[in-house]
Amino acid sequence: MKGLILSGGKGTRLRPLTYTSAKQLVPVANKPVLFFGIESIVRAGIEEIGIVVGETHQEIRAAVGDGSRFGARVTYIQQDAPRGLAHAVLIARDFLGDDSFVMYLGDNLIVSGITELVEEFRRLGCNSEILLAKVANPRQFGVAELTADGKVHRLVEKPEQPKSDLALVGVYMFDHHIHESVRRIQPSARGELEITDAIQDLVDRGLDVHPHVVKGWWKDTGKLEDMLEANRIVLEKMESDWSSTALRGSSAIEGRVVLGEGAEVVDSVVRGPVIIGAGARIINAFVGPYTSIGDRCEISHCEIENSIVLADSSILDVPRRIDGSLVGRNVRIVRAIEKPKAYRFMLGDNSEVGIV
Ligand code: DAU
Repeated sequence: MKGLILSGGKGTRLRPLTYTSAKQLVPVANKPVLFFGIESIVRAGIEEIGIVVGETHQEIRAAVGDGSRFGARVTYIQQDAPRGLAHAVLIARDFLGDDSFVMYLGDNLIVSGITELVEEFRRLGCNSEILLAKVANPRQFGVAELTADGKVHRLVEKPEQPKSDLALVGVYMFDHHIHESVRRIQPSARGELEITDAIQDLVDRGLDVHPHVVKGWWKDTGKLEDMLEANRIVLEKMESDWSSTALRGSSAIEGRVVLGEGAEVVDSVVRGPVIIGAGARIINAFVGPYTSIGDRCEISHCEIENSIVLADSSILDVPRRIDGSLVGRNVRIVRAIEKPKAYRFMLGDNSEVGIV
């Protein structure tokens, strides 16, 4: 079996995190979301992985390399434009051959991994297995309608009037029959070859498409609340990893905490679940539950919880506790000392600041 990860699509510079244009590289608990996908495919015993890349291919190639550090062999498949998920399967034909494969959308995260799902697909010997999750906003997804006995009846991409609240999760398993289906379908109203239509074609041809409802699924939508939720879900599962040599002065570590190499905690309290990146310094501060602090950050004389701070940022001498915040790379939040006593901002596009 092979893996096919979709990491193409357009650059999305309008997101809150403008430091990168590849949404698959947005970090969750200090790790790009794409890496979770690669790791869970490898954990399911699949080492041969094709990654479909588009406009942002340089960033993806630089981050993933040849895959050896994940224990995988990665082949890049260049897509000229985001012509749809089924188009990605079409252009991956040479890489995939007639092997069965798992297709994984690079901006999705299945917290419990996919090992059991891949095993189920192999055991059932079906032609395809699709993952579904109950969602509050089915209009934004591919939606599945099941029969009374739980078989797939109809799949519709982003329906105006959804017939169910079961969304297609961005992980699919296929045998070789999908190749004929992706050639049979036509572009949708949004001009894309939809994988949803290709799977419907499998169903219409009487092939066996097995639905599996999952929990603990997350998709990058670029919204702050979603990012914080993903961060919480991943930190919740994390194991402690730190050594007391990182602690200085009267510091305390409570609960599950990961400290990166060379990170220092000086006269501070870190209450997990928390991850602190390599070379970060926490000085006279409180870092509370569900916080990810990136590599080389400095958090000094302030309190922060339930937040994400990306690499190389400093938060110094902030008088009130910071909560529910997402701070990009190389950002400085400092107390202004010069007169006049005023707020001083330099904020990028689409920034949002809450002041009390
Ligand atoms: O996330 C689940 C949803 O993903 C499903 O419920 C939908 O049925 C499915 O069509 C898909 O919907 P989106 O419209 O949200 O997909 P998006 O355009 O965000 O693309 C998903 C990933 O695939 C993303 O990492 C970019 C990559 N991609 C996308 C397209 C259209 C490619 O690599 N090539 C492409 O042509």
